[in-house]
Amino acid sequence: MHILVLNGPNLNLLGTREPDIYGRDTLADIEAACRTLAGDLGVTVAFEQSNHEGALVDALHAARTGADGVILNAGAYTHTSIALRDAISATGMAVIELHLSNTHARETFRHVSMIAPVCIGVIQGFGAAGYGLALRAIVAHLGAHAG
Ligand code: DQA
Repeated sequence: MHILVLNGPNLNLLGTREPDIYGRDTLADIEAACRTLAGDLGVTVAFEQSNHEGALVDALHAARTGADGVILNAGAYTHTSIALRDAISATGMAVIELHLSNTHARETFRHVSMIAPVCIGVIQGFGAAGYGLALRAIVAHLGAHAG
């Protein structure tokens, strides 16, 4: 089983970006923890990050043939991007929406998600640990829907 962990805009700045909200782990720290967990779960992971909406759409299209499921922290595009939503629908892939912060406890413009209705579920508010939770969740989901 191969899982794509796809990260959107500004997540390359994790570690120094608003640490009170997003914590002090860098994306590289999170990737290392996910790789360790993936090994324990017997799956492989690929990590990608882009600040560009179209590049995220391209990565979702590529995942159709390259991955079994996707964990997507779309950053601010979560709240604005019909293109990302359409890409998830178009690929028909199992995608988990992920956020470090609890977007519902923040500004009202973060309460809307364009992508949640086409994702299998949402994990948010658990900081960097959410990546591990999402990995466990998608592996369980894909295992239950295998065959
Ligand atoms: C985020 C939440 C978004 O609202 C924000 O724009 C981000 C990060 C999170 O992981 O908490 O860039 O996706």
